[in-house]
Amino acid sequence: MTLRGRSVVSINDLNDDEILLILDTAVRMAELAERDEHPDLLGGWVLANLFFEPSTRTRLSFESAMKRLGGDVIGFSEGGSTSAMKGETLADTVRMVSGYSDAAVIRHSREGAARMATQFATIPVINGGDGAGQHPTQTLLDLYTIRKAFGKVEGVKCALVGDLKYGRTVHSLAIALARFGAQLTLVAPEALQMPPEILRALEERGVRPRVETALAPVIPEADVIYMTRIQRERFPDPEEYARVAGSYRLTVDALKGAKAHAIVLHPLPRVDEIDAAVDATAHAKYFEQALNGVHVRMALLALLLRGEEILKEIGGQRAA
Ligand code: NCD
Repeated sequence: MTLRGRSVVSINDLNDDEILLILDTAVRMAELAERDEHPDLLGGWVLANLFFEPSTRTRLSFESAMKRLGGDVIGFSEGGSTSAMKGETLADTVRMVSGYSDAAVIRHSREGAARMATQFATIPVINGGDGAGQHPTQTLLDLYTIRKAFGKVEGVKCALVGDLKYGRTVHSLAIALARFGAQLTLVAPEALQMPPEILRALEERGVRPRVETALAPVIPEADVIYMTRIQRERFPDPEEYARVAGSYRLTVDALKGAKAHAIVLHPLPRVDEIDAAVDATAHAKYFEQALNGVHVRMALLALLLRGEEILKEIGGQRAA
C-alpha cells in the first residue's frame, strides 16, 4: 500500500517497511541538505498546522520541513485565537481546513482528537501529539536518531525515563522500539508508570520490559537513556505533581558509569531532568535529535502528499 494520502495518528498506522522507508528517505533528505540541495518536491502544496497546545519543535520543524521542500504553511499556534473559542467543534474546523490545505498536523490536549479529526478530514492528518496519547512523528525522529547512532534498533538497550504515564512520546516510542526488537527498561516513579494498555501492546509483541524506579542502576547498561519531562499540565492535582517533580536528574557525575557510546535523548523541552552540564558531553544527542526532526518530517510530508514517486526525484531507494 502506498503512503500517499494516508494519515498518521498512531505509530501502528505505519507498518515496519513504511517506517523504514520514511527513515531511509529522511537519510536522503539529510544528505541533500548537507550538500545545500533543496528538492522542490512540494511546490504549490499547503500544510495546515493546527496547534491547540503549546509547541516549539514540532510546529517549527514541520513548518521548516514543508518550506524546505518548496511548500507553504498556514495555521495557528494556539487554539485561543481560533473559532474554537466561539464554540466551533474540532470536526467543523477540520472540515474547513480540508479545503484550505493538502495535509494537516494537529496537536490537541484531548487524547483521541487526531483520530477523530481523520473522520472529518478529506486530507491526511498527522498527529502532532494528542493529550497523553501518542506522538508518532516524534517516534520517527527518535528511531532515526537511534539508527544513526547504532546503525540499527534491534538489540539496542533503551531506558525510557520519567513520566511514562502522561508522556505521549514514550507511549508511541515504546511500541515502536518493541516492534523493532530493542531491549526496553522503563524507569518511572510508582505514580507515573507506563499505562497498562501500552504494556499490553508490548506484551502482544512478546516484549516484557524491565521495570525500575531508580535511574542509577540502569545507567551502566543502557545504550540509550531517553529522558522525559514530568508532564505538569496533565496532572489533575498540583499536589500530585509536587510529589513527583524533580524525580530524576541526569548529571555528568551520574553519567560517569555510562557506556562510552551511550547516548542521552530527550524529546525536549527539558525542565530540570538533564543538567545543563551534560550538554557538553559526547553522550548528549538531544539537540541533534531535534534537528533530525526536520529531515524526518520532510520525508514524511513528501511521502504522504506525493507517494513513493518522490524517490525517483531524490534518488532514494525503497527500503528492503
Ligand atoms: C513533547 C510533547 O509535546 O509531547 N515535545 C515535543 O514534541 N518534542 C514532550 C514534552 O512536552 O514533554
